[in-house]
Amino acid sequence: MKLDLRLSACADYIEKGAVVADVGTDHAYLPVFLVENGICPRAIASDIGTGPLEAAKKNITKHNLSEKIEAVLSDGLKNVNKDGVTHIVIAGMGGETICDILSACEWINGCTLVLQPMTRSELVREFLFENGFEISSEKAIIDGKFIYTVLKAVYTGNKKEFGQFEKVVGGLDLTLPAEREYIKKKIGQYEASAFGKLKSKLSCEEAQNDKEIAEKLRKALGE
Ligand SMILES: C[S@@+](CC[C@H](N)C(=O)[O-])C[C@H]1O[C@@H](n2cnc3c(N)ncnc32)[C@H](O)[C@@H]1O
Repeated sequence: MKLDLRLSACADYIEKGAVVADVGTDHAYLPVFLVENGICPRAIASDIGTGPLEAAKKNITKHNLSEKIEAVLSDGLKNVNKDGVTHIVIAGMGGETICDILSACEWINGCTLVLQPMTRSELVREFLFENGFEISSEKAIIDGKFIYTVLKAVYTGNKKEFGQFEKVVGGLDLTLPAEREYIKKKIGQYEASAFGKLKSKLSCEEAQNDKEIAEKLRKALGE
């Protein structure tokens, strides 16, 4: 089975021998790929929805992996058995939902997190910085007209000093083309936001902040 670019980027962050809990697994494409390719000896595929979980079970059975992949109906990590889990993957969800799932779980510190927010990635990085996680790696993925980031984070216990700039750039290497595209898109968003705020004359201070972030990002790209 082949993964799309986005899930493939998540899979690249999983070390051999890891036991993954894939939260919001939908069809269980990621756990099936990881176990089938001998990267994970076993995995947990969890989802809050009965429909997606049924789709996951069907796919797991199709690949003869029922012994190695446990399908669990769960809101976030609430019903997931933490024993032996080394990596938590949360992909394809909004940043706010990802933060809610992480906040509600008491055992995330012991795991490597692989997170792929579809929206509000700044919120996710803020959560990580405030809760003693370090972004050890992050990359941008261009898939057709979409651009995503995927990050890997580990708990160090050190709380990082950060501002809006750090929340936007995270662990991205700004010398790489896809990462530069991602930041250019962000610059556009901050500039549009500043323009909208100035036009409405409601929040000039916020507009100024947005403009400053956009400028800082441009500088970081060397533009
Ligand atoms: C767009 S799909 C993403 C599927 C897959 N992870 C991917 O990245 O391709 C989002 C999935 O997350 C599930 N989901 C949403 N909120 C959840 C929560 N709080 N706990 C577990 N699963 C959740 C949905 O039911 C849905 O199956």
